[in-house]
Amino acid sequence: MAWGLNREAVERLGSPLARVVEVHEELGSTQERARELARAGAVHGTLVLSSAQTGGRGRRGRWWGSPPGGLWMSLVLTGIEPAHASRITQATAVGSAKALREYGARVRIKWPNDLLIGGRKVCGILAESSIGDFSAGHIVLGVGLNANLDPSELDAPEATTLRRELGRDVDLLELLAAVLSGLEDELDRLGDFGAILDDWRALDCTLGERVCVWRRGESLTGKAAGLSPEGALLLETEDGTVELFEGEVEQLRV
Ligand code: BTN
Repeated sequence: MAWGLNREAVERLGSPLARVVEVHEELGSTQERARELARAGAVHGTLVLSSAQTGGRGRRGRWWGSPPGGLWMSLVLTGIEPAHASRITQATAVGSAKALREYGARVRIKWPNDLLIGGRKVCGILAESSIGDFSAGHIVLGVGLNANLDPSELDAPEATTLRRELGRDVDLLELLAAVLSGLEDELDRLGDFGAILDDWRALDCTLGERVCVWRRGESLTGKAAGLSPEGALLLETEDGTVELFEGEVEQLRV
């Protein structure tokens, strides 16, 4: 299916999260380009899209395979209240999961913000500060969605794609519109994080499970018992409950 995204079409969506739009055939990374624009004073709702990325970046500097067919986007957000900045990733997970559910995809969220279908990752989210201080309210939000691709194109055997899960390709402009609208809804209620977390819980696949969490080179094992009011994972270990604000969760089979 053709890429189908061009600047005019994206601007016609009229989304407040697509006020200024760049669409590229190929870029190193939309995230790097959006950070560059943010540092140069880009307005809230500056959106960078690319058909393919040659240097797509995941969390912890990991490689993110980005061939044509996926939805690779980064969004500049400004004026986020400092106290709300750390809520962005979970809010984005909820908004994106709801958008994918409109397609009938049985998406679940693995703490804090990986979107999975049938236990395989379909979408990754990367929220970074554009100026080095996350709480300053200037954020570059990257979303990578494996859409019209075969998993074999991704170099990530554990990943899945919408094509594989839905058995068809989707219109990327419609998909983008659904994601932006889902994001807009959640970003609008960052101040009511309890409500976002309630929706997060309804979509979650981590809580109640025995998990191993990797954090800064060490691992912690226990039961994912719940969330704090700010979305931290409460892990019940043999030595007591630990509150985790970051980490990679691996579900353990019991
Ligand atoms: C993760 O590790 O789960 C986050 C992956 C984020 C990938 C997206 S694709 C669009 C944007 N540009 C990048 O280089 N990374 C993000």
